[in-house]
Amino acid sequence: MATTEEISTNQQMIGRQDVNDIRAILEVTNTDVDELTHAVTDHADAIFTWDYEKGARPALDKLYEKAKKAQWNGQTDLPWATEVDQEQVVIANQMQFNDGNGAMPEFDVSGTPFERWTEKEWIQVGIESQNWTLSQFMHGEQGALICTAKIVETVPWVDAKYYASTQVMDEARHVEVFARYLDEKLSGHYPINAHLKLLLDDIVADGRWDMTYLGMQIMVEGLALAAFGFMHQMTTEPLLKQLLRYVMADEARHVAFGVLSLKEYYEQLSAPEIRERQEFAFEAAVRMRDRFLQQEVWDRMGVPVKDAVELVMRTPMQQMFQMMLFSKIVPNCKKLGLLDTGDAWLRERFQELGVIQFEDWQDTGEEYESLAIGAEEAGNN
Ligand SMILES: [Fe+2]
Ligand SMILES: [Fe+2]
Repeated sequence: MATTEEISTNQQMIGRQDVNDIRAILEVTNTDVDELTHAVTDHADAIFTWDYEKGARPALDKLYEKAKKAQWNGQTDLPWATEVDQEQVVIANQMQFNDGNGAMPEFDVSGTPFERWTEKEWIQVGIESQNWTLSQFMHGEQGALICTAKIVETVPWVDAKYYASTQVMDEARHVEVFARYLDEKLSGHYPINAHLKLLLDDIVADGRWDMTYLGMQIMVEGLALAAFGFMHQMTTEPLLKQLLRYVMADEARHVAFGVLSLKEYYEQLSAPEIRERQEFAFEAAVRMRDRFLQQEVWDRMGVPVKDAVELVMRTPMQQMFQMMLFSKIVPNCKKLGLLDTGDAWLRERFQELGVIQFEDWQDTGEEYESLAIGAEEAGNN
């Protein structure tokens, strides 16, 4: 991390000068695909508090009480007996974007590695893409498990320690259900994507408790909530649909936990301290955008990765998906004062990434009420 005195360059923050330098993005690869464990030093003190007054922070207390009642069991509450035909699921997904004529609608693939592809290869890439996506969700969920256990130790407020302890249980359940879905219903795993791994390592290594929240609850989980929502809407597979719906109910609380905690804390920070948070948010945004290029999928399909990524980045589905990923992050950063504090540095960065248009969308401070399981029937609980 940069110190507060210096202005960081892109090179220092994300390891390259040009944010859109695809060659540099693809040079970051996971070189430890066979490791079984991975150690990160977390640089943090465990903080006891002797102030046990429950409810001193009413919004966090309310969230904690909601979370206790919203627990579900990943083994017994989901219809695991559902038969999943992955090929049919992929075909149904692709039909929504291309009228069933291959994966590149209205797109000229002549002269590209895709020129000779038939429906068979397009279905295979859809299958690999699903294996990859769910694998990355699973790895990200483990990141959330570790980060939230760390927050239990490091946050100084008892209401936040209480709430975070419920999130630890939620994240264990999420890792469990994604792992089971991959094992029983899909057809292969992928190791963690290098960009996601760099981001999780940076979040865990930062000893300041608010940086854990910013990296995980605001950035990673904000993106996850949007990505799960997109997939939940698109998929026709009933088990995955229900799994995602249950996970989203939890994730909406987690993002709210980040927004509600950091809102209070960031009001007291100095401009240079806020600037460090802005840079951290930007680094996280770029790393997450990079990871969604799915470079490992193209590698496994045996096509030149750079050509494939450049082509896919221009497809309507990818462009829509890329933008949607930031639909929660940008309004939440705005609510926390991160967009415009100082010289509006983060606003400019989000403009460059092409995602600033979400700034006035609803933030996620309260969304958990409408996403709670049963909220649809009970009229918002
Ligand atoms: Fe989660
Ligand atoms: Fe979460």
